[in-house]
Amino acid sequence: MGFSNLVLAILLFGGNTYSIDMESARETRCFWIGKTVPVDMEWMDSITRMYFPAMSKMELYRTAVDIAGEDPEDISEDSVHNDSCIYWKMHHNGTLKGRGFSGRSREYKTTFDRPNKFDFRPAEGEGYSGTVYVTLTDNSTFMFAPICTDEGEMAWGVFSTVPRLPERTMNQIHEHAKSLGFKKQYFVNVNYDKCDLSGASGTTSATVLTPSRNRMGSLRNRGQWNARNQY
Ligand SMILES: *[C@@H]1O[C@H](CO)[C@@H](O)[C@H](O)[C@H]1NC(C)=O
Ligand SMILES: *[C@@H]1O[C@H](CO)[C@@H](O)[C@H](O)[C@H]1NC(C)=O
Ligand SMILES: *[C@@H]1O[C@H](CO)[C@@H](O)[C@H](O)[C@H]1NC(C)=O
Repeated sequence: MGFSNLVLAILLFGGNTYSIDMESARETRCFWIGKTVPVDMEWMDSITRMYFPAMSKMELYRTAVDIAGEDPEDISEDSVHNDSCIYWKMHHNGTLKGRGFSGRSREYKTTFDRPNKFDFRPAEGEGYSGTVYVTLTDNSTFMFAPICTDEGEMAWGVFSTVPRLPERTMNQIHEHAKSLGFKKQYFVNVNYDKCDLSGASGTTSATVLTPSRNRMGSLRNRGQWNARNQY
């Protein structure tokens, strides 16, 4: 291998700098969620910061594109998993605020149907929208939410009070996901090890989580990814 080829190979493969590939995240069309479970709304109200430790690939990619405000080609696979530091806050007025990627944020309007089902869409402009259900919760550390995107793709995410759930809980969540029809090959996670979690005790929502390094480019084309192929 020549020197320039070697340099190219390192640039392309050496640093986990692959872009996220939306097509690779397509899992299944939306399916009927027959059974939802009630959530303790007082508990939910008390959560100042909801972490996002586990989800399907589609959910992570759609969220990353929207919060980072970048095209998928400009978001690296490594950054979504290891540097995104995504967290959420549900406000009383129905605004769901997502933060991550070194201080980026995105607000969604939510419309509650029942305490275990709500629609979300960006407060401003185009972006990620869909319907969130809750099918599993312990009313104390996590909620498991299947999500039907407005493009008709099924996704799921786990909202939690802690950045990392115990293995036992994660096993329960993954078994539940499989029982609904989600596939293991699309299970992904957000790793908060490199995030600054100061103020993470849940006592303040003012702290912005920042990754220790930032590989994101400039802000542009906020949330412009749209599904091209509808199965
Ligand atoms: C969660 O709280 C709701 C509302 O109080 C309750 O109906 C439900 O049974 C609780 N679920 C669990 C698993 O404790
Ligand atoms: C995240 O970082 C860990 C090491 O800290 C690494 O092993 C893993 O491959 C990274 N994940 C991705 C998707 O690049
Ligand atoms: C809802 O409340 C949050 C937090 O106070 C605020 O940032 C947001 O702008 C509000 N949204 C609307 C639509 O009033």
